[in-house]
Amino acid sequence: MQNNKVQIFDTTLRDGEQVPGCKLDTKQKLIIAERLDLLGVDVIEAGFPISSPGDFSSVMEISNLVKNATVCGLTRAVQKDIEVAAQALKNAVKPRIHTGIGTSESHIKFKFKSTQEEVIERAKFAVSLAKNYVDDVEFYAEDAGRTDNAFLAKVCEEVIKAGATVLNIPDTTGYCLPDEYGAKIKYLVDHVKGIENVTLSCHCHNDLGLATANSIAGIINGARQIECTINGIGERAGNTALEEVVMILKQHPYLNLDTNINTKLLYDTSLMVSEKMGMVVQPNKAIVGANAFAHSSGIHQDGVIKNRETYEIINPEDVGVNESAIILTARSGRAALAYRAKKIGYMLTKVQLDAAYESFLAIADSQQEVKDEDIHQIIKQVNKISKVAIA
Ligand code: KIV
Ligand code: ZN
Repeated sequence: MQNNKVQIFDTTLRDGEQVPGCKLDTKQKLIIAERLDLLGVDVIEAGFPISSPGDFSSVMEISNLVKNATVCGLTRAVQKDIEVAAQALKNAVKPRIHTGIGTSESHIKFKFKSTQEEVIERAKFAVSLAKNYVDDVEFYAEDAGRTDNAFLAKVCEEVIKAGATVLNIPDTTGYCLPDEYGAKIKYLVDHVKGIENVTLSCHCHNDLGLATANSIAGIINGARQIECTINGIGERAGNTALEEVVMILKQHPYLNLDTNINTKLLYDTSLMVSEKMGMVVQPNKAIVGANAFAHSSGIHQDGVIKNRETYEIINPEDVGVNESAIILTARSGRAALAYRAKKIGYMLTKVQLDAAYESFLAIADSQQEVKDEDIHQIIKQVNKISKVAIA
């Protein structure tokens, strides 16, 4: 039977927290972890336990706290890393060790000064060791995006034999094109013995702005886990944005793929992460940016007022935003002015609207946005000529 559920692996607290200047303390991490659990993510990557005593205790406390999601700790393919991660995860209801090693030619040659054979041995050793502590072991082939597919398939086959339950295929440098990344996943599906017994995972970085597109290409070709962060934060240009992949699957039901995410919590979760990390969300950010449901040109405003779907493909309430915003600027038309005036209590006749619109344009040309206070002033002027009805 085809599995249509895509697991959401959130790495806001690990890859996301690697953003310079966005370090979180344990208390802040616990608040975010609790929110991620409520949001419905399947896996929370809580940290990299060997990296510092602070990260160790964060992973430990998150393991104590989280009741629904799997809690995951990152390691290198190094014995001490794995032992320390197992210790930090020991109280988790559903613990996962995420271990791995670089597999691309450049990682093997320059980072490890090693050979493909040795890398396979280290990968097998790491997975087998992790398996002594937890049943759920995820293996990452770092820089899989630039790894030769035949070698990658070999590594995958060996770590499956060693007990890996999830295979993470990271496009670590954000280099792949969607067709290429999708084809890589398909190649593994078609060539790796035992692949049907494990979950393939997409972990895409956004260096070329393709992280979301690549992740979607990955799941269309057979992966069933996406690794992502709230607001797409992460190293360099960031990771795949959780809110984007989740809403893509929701808005394209013919793909027949869905997630366990409660989408109504997306906007508040984005605000919380932005505030805790001191990292502003760009206004034009898809799904959660301040302008994602704001309309300012007259043509669009007129359409949205007549029927929201003319210019919106997502109902803002589905992501926890109360309603679409009609922003009044010099590009707005009479329909938008009448709409906003009605919202604050005034029913304008056609003649009154014409008069109000003239004053409106004079104000709009001299400031960026016309606010409700300005409309009250405009109506005062119109009232001098003819009494405006209260809506
Ligand atoms: O981008 C990457 O390759 C990673 C791995 C450590 C999973 O973050
Ligand atoms: Zn990463």
